[in-house]
Amino acid sequence: MTDVAQRLEGTFTLLAVHADAPDTVVGARHDSPLVVGLGEGENFLGSDVAAFISHTKEALELGQDQVVTITPTSVEVVDFDGVPAEAKRYTVDWDAAAAEKGGFSSFMDKEIHDQPHAVGDTLLGRTDPSGKLVLDDLRIDEAVLRSVDKIIVVACGTAAYSGHVAKYAIEHWCRIPVEVELAHEFRYRDPIVDEKTLVVAVTQSGETMDTLMAVRHAREQGAKVISIVNTHGSTIPRESDAVLYTHAGPEIAVASTKAFLSQITAAYLLGLYLAQLRGNKFPDEIAAILEDLREMPRKIQTVIERGEYVRATARSMKDASSVLFLGRHVGFPVALEGALKLKELAYIHAEGFAAGELKHGPIALIDEGQPVFVIVPSPRGREGLHSKVISNIQEIRARGARTLVIAEDGDDAVRPFADEIFWIPESPTLLSPLLAVVPLQIFAMSLATAKGSTSTSRATSPSRSRSSSRAPRREGAA
Ligand code: F6R
Repeated sequence: MTDVAQRLEGTFTLLAVHADAPDTVVGARHDSPLVVGLGEGENFLGSDVAAFISHTKEALELGQDQVVTITPTSVEVVDFDGVPAEAKRYTVDWDAAAAEKGGFSSFMDKEIHDQPHAVGDTLLGRTDPSGKLVLDDLRIDEAVLRSVDKIIVVACGTAAYSGHVAKYAIEHWCRIPVEVELAHEFRYRDPIVDEKTLVVAVTQSGETMDTLMAVRHAREQGAKVISIVNTHGSTIPRESDAVLYTHAGPEIAVASTKAFLSQITAAYLLGLYLAQLRGNKFPDEIAAILEDLREMPRKIQTVIERGEYVRATARSMKDASSVLFLGRHVGFPVALEGALKLKELAYIHAEGFAAGELKHGPIALIDEGQPVFVIVPSPRGREGLHSKVISNIQEIRARGARTLVIAEDGDDAVRPFADEIFWIPESPTLLSPLLAVVPLQIFAMSLATAKGSTSTSRATSPSRSRSSSRAPRREGAA
């Protein structure tokens, strides 16, 4: 291992097991975390004590450029030259589960409740004394940003759905075409990218390999890259031309919640920043949207406080084997995210559709008792949108669907067609995903709990959880 470690370049944590000695694990680190857990007749390696805290609180913190060899009964540390080295031994004085969950039933539960702060903190300090929006770390000439003629958002999973929301907002505010592309598709095709393309990489961890590769590919083609990232010190912001950090704090649960809301918030800020720079909006228009955004944390809190009705509904549906989600406009990515959360947590079939697509095939899936969530846009929003969704609800109801409707306070038009209604406060349509997704997160978590699905413990067990602050996971996407 020492020979290999000396020859490696860049940041790494490397573990190796020899097939002939499966009880021995060798690890090395350079600029990347590696911690040893010291147990009774068992030892552990992890990027964070959270990985083994349920087994032992005794730990060894390896120094920079050290190699450790563990067996169930021994631990040896050397430096990269093979010279015996000291590692710092310490006792962890907290119980990860209790200390970090802060009294909540799971990390996901806690992180859902953190969302008003995550959004509020992401909005904090974004304007200079004159009220102009500023980005964190901008290494792109403003003239270049003014000349951008296309934006491509690259991301994976939930982060990509935040990109879909960004598309609606940025196109509306800035009149620049925005494409959203899954990073693993982008990197394996031949995308049309040049110096006038702005690529926006969205990632909680800042380490997702597909997103990183998409960033590298875009820059090789001459595009500028702005990343929206939660984890400081991660690779993607280092390799981007500019960064907009989300301030969601560490997201430990495997299923992303507060990072999603803060990614959407950061994307709004980016859209408004570009609108300001390119003169698409007057300063007072931007100030008014910022004011609406500053109202959102309080409204998210209201949705969370109404969560018991969502939890009770989820408990009543614990035998559901399939749930569908419909939305239009910004409600469409919300529907996709609702379905992803449910698959990921409750392990049941769930699919999100653009409501207008129903008649083109998916309506065949709807029969007696099929639960369908419908995200209803504000009746005060874009003309025609609300009534279109109401007629979609009527269509699926006529086929016997059980309709679970997310609607804005006071929208009486939905009442006759909804089996259950989850009310959210009024908000401008473009900002509404910050509210509409919250009942879906609570629903997925509660259904998983009601089913006793193992995924609930994924959200609670430190050993299966993410530690984005120190050691972001999911970097291994193929
Ligand atoms: C779903 C989820 C994933 C991530 C995706 C990207 O709950 O968490 O879909 O959004 O793996 O991860 P990051 O944002 O770290 O690039």
